[in-house]
Amino acid sequence: MTVCVVGSGGREHALARVLARSDDVVVAPGNPGMPSSPGDGGPAHPIRTTPAPPEALEADRFVIGPEAPLVDGLADRLRAAGRRVVGPGAEGARLEGSKAFMKEVLAESGVPTARFGTFDRLEPAREFLRTLPGPWVVKTDGLAAGKGVTVAGTIEEAEADLAAKLSGAAFGDAGRRVVVEEGLAGPECSLLVLCDGRRVAPLAPAQDFKRVGDGDTGPNTGGMGAYSPVPDVDAGLVDELVETAVTPLVATLRRRGIDYRGVLYAGLMLTGDGAKVLEYNVRFGDPEAQVVLPRLASDPVELLVAVAEGRLGSVADRVRFAPDPAVCVVLAAAGYPGSPRTGDPIGGLAPDGQPATAVPGVTVYHAATRRSGDGRFTTDGGRVLGVSALGPDLGEARRRAYRASGSITWEGRQLRLDIAEAAAGGAGSGGATAARSGATR
Ligand code: AMP
Ligand code: GLY
Repeated sequence: MTVCVVGSGGREHALARVLARSDDVVVAPGNPGMPSSPGDGGPAHPIRTTPAPPEALEADRFVIGPEAPLVDGLADRLRAAGRRVVGPGAEGARLEGSKAFMKEVLAESGVPTARFGTFDRLEPAREFLRTLPGPWVVKTDGLAAGKGVTVAGTIEEAEADLAAKLSGAAFGDAGRRVVVEEGLAGPECSLLVLCDGRRVAPLAPAQDFKRVGDGDTGPNTGGMGAYSPVPDVDAGLVDELVETAVTPLVATLRRRGIDYRGVLYAGLMLTGDGAKVLEYNVRFGDPEAQVVLPRLASDPVELLVAVAEGRLGSVADRVRFAPDPAVCVVLAAAGYPGSPRTGDPIGGLAPDGQPATAVPGVTVYHAATRRSGDGRFTTDGGRVLGVSALGPDLGEARRRAYRASGSITWEGRQLRLDIAEAAAGGAGSGGATAARSGATR
């Protein structure tokens, strides 16, 4: 039986490739870099794409990748038609669809989070800002593709940002309500868990790089790279984080009558005062999926079906990961995260969309590519490709990801050169320096 992955980005490409280890996969709508057949050197089962709406597909099992269709109730509609679905219904997806709702549920669950207020008018929001020591954080209530959060170093910057959001000028209706909160400091960690409505099973922790520039400079993006596992977050700490940040939340959801079956993603900051939740997402992270899923050593279809059927208990002790770390470097178009330039021909990809130059352990996940008449790939959005590499250690995984990244170029390509650098103790930086040659910054 075919598994359907809903979405078209790098995360969905990673989902398709891992699921195709054990079953045929169709991605709706997918992108031109995704199709593969076992002969291509890809996974054991074929991956195809379809422009048909998910509801029209014969498939019985669905994994919904992005937040927007979840917030829009796609999981409810598919379940109403008797399908097995990984992804919460619209009520559960409000955790991501409204940061104000998320904060309310966190507070009700006693989960540690930054001190906050929710506002739809400027004056009370400004007053609250002045009670915080700074840095000051202003977040759109609604969805903003990972770009709706501003961490301001001065109160003037925070006030200007508040005005731009609340007026609708910056993010339309998504910003007419905002969450204002205290700035926290510390390393971040993305902890993704599978949840079947009652039980949770953690996946391997990952770290994402949200700012566009090296050294965490510049505006926030959807994510410029990631690695897994995170050396400082061992199995004991994962259990602790699940206990403090996830289990109480799932209990609150149940009390509210929400049967949450899908992936819960806790964005955590490990502060001097303990771990605090910055946000919840209701899906796999992108690019976290591109480093967590390739490491999965359990049967992916069996796991996801157990989530959809509410019987994670029968398989949860079997969520296993390979020890080899993974590093993903995102190659983005000129102009991202503002208005990206599109239509640039991409050099260094073979006809199957994988690197023309073989580097061991590397998979290129397509996020925003188009195929032109002559079969070549061109850029078609902000985050274009995710170059992921597995290696025997973090330094080697990094070296491989950057070596392959250096062989894939186009006009104006942007990439960060410090993905996983600190965690790898600087190892693999030679590859990053070489990757710069094709980059413009
Ligand atoms: P969010 O979408 O809420 O995860 O925010 C995106 C990014 O903004 C996070 O990954 C952090 O890097 C940063 N951020 C969010 N909230 C805070 C906060 N309270 N203090 C400091 N940085 C934050
Ligand atoms: N990488 C951040 C996210 O998926 O929201």
